[in-house]
Amino acid sequence: MTDTLLNVDRHLLITGGCGFIGSNFVRFIRAQRPAWRITNLDSLTEAGNLQNLADVAVGEHYRFIKGNICDRALVERLIDECTDIVHLAAETHVDRSIMDAGPFVQTNVVGTQTILDAALKVFKARSSGRLVFASTDEVYGSLPLDTMSERFTEDSPLRPNNPYSASKAAADMMVRAYHETFALDCVVTRCCNNFGPNQFPEKVIPLFVTNLLEGHSVPLYGDGKNVRDWIHVEDYCSALLAVLERGHSGATYNVGANNERSNLELTHELLRLLGCGPEMVRHVPDRLGHDLRYAIDAGKLECELGWQAERSAWPAALERTVKWYQDNESWWRAVKSGAYKDYYKRQYGLFEGESGE
Ligand code: NAD
Ligand code: DAU
Repeated sequence: MTDTLLNVDRHLLITGGCGFIGSNFVRFIRAQRPAWRITNLDSLTEAGNLQNLADVAVGEHYRFIKGNICDRALVERLIDECTDIVHLAAETHVDRSIMDAGPFVQTNVVGTQTILDAALKVFKARSSGRLVFASTDEVYGSLPLDTMSERFTEDSPLRPNNPYSASKAAADMMVRAYHETFALDCVVTRCCNNFGPNQFPEKVIPLFVTNLLEGHSVPLYGDGKNVRDWIHVEDYCSALLAVLERGHSGATYNVGANNERSNLELTHELLRLLGCGPEMVRHVPDRLGHDLRYAIDAGKLECELGWQAERSAWPAALERTVKWYQDNESWWRAVKSGAYKDYYKRQYGLFEGESGE
């Protein structure tokens, strides 16, 4: 593909742009493709936060629309005004999906189908337009801990084990179906665990870092032996841009950083970075259906598109992330004192010494 085609001006519809990955992706596109326009469609669930974009949400190249991806008329109008879609909006927390799967089916499955139907109508009429869908490595299910060389490839069977990953797998298969049935131009990414700035502190890294900064203990599930592959969010943003511009239509790409750690290793690294001792770890009952290990082979993305994870190496990337939370205390204190607090109380009970008022 020529540079001229790669640099063509676009108007992206980014769904979920006020969340963790979405806000980092908006910032990444503003820096890497300053001529592009962005429409950010987000319904502002508790994970969505306008503060995440306070520094970049200015100027005529950016527009925020508060709305739901299940609103067909709105979605169709916005797609009609844009050239391509990067669909990130979702219910994303596994523990919440175990408490109530309903919103996960509604947003992740019905919302994605709404976007697919609207994209089909608009893009087909126009004969152009690409949809990039953020699926997840969780759709493959879990690997055992005794064969650490095994990894999922894009051809591995989908065996999701929790309501969140099942809803993402359903959406992922709907995207595939719209490509196969209607030749809609779609590309799917299946990425591992992201970390970085602006992550909602229900996810393990920002939860543990902010708890330790507050002087609270950290709730480690089960024996802590579960393994995740950690990628810095900017590396995932560069993968999303690569597949948008150069990915093969209808293809699926794994995105991973080859950076596997057990939760115990992660916890001890965070304790070390924050100068805390092992007494700050609170062992709590395991997550139901807790997947043991996620590990994916990102060779296809590396070979076909020349993508590399460049910003994920530990300990430097983790140190930078911890520093971001140290430097942005007002951001996470505001988030933690909102609706999040009720969730935390339901999930774990109160911290020692807290009144709950
Ligand atoms: P997040 O929970 O931080 O943000 C999700 C955003 O979507 C929020 O801003 C929220 O307000 C918005 N949203 C939710 N429901 C909506 C609806 N019905 N209509 C409009 N907006 C809605 O999530 P994240 O961690 O940034 O994940 C983004 C995407 O990447 C998701 O699709 C997720 O499945 C996928 N993904 C995440 C990771 C990860 O490690 N975080 C890894 C792989 C894939
Ligand atoms: O793998 C990609 C997925 O990563 C994304 O698709 C999901 O949207 C994202 O939430 C994330 O899922 P995980 O369940 O892996 O992330 P979480 O941060 O919730 O948990 C990471 C690990 O830490 C997991 O093994 C459970 C453990 N954990 C988590 C929390 C919140 C704890 O031990 N204690 C906790 O309090």
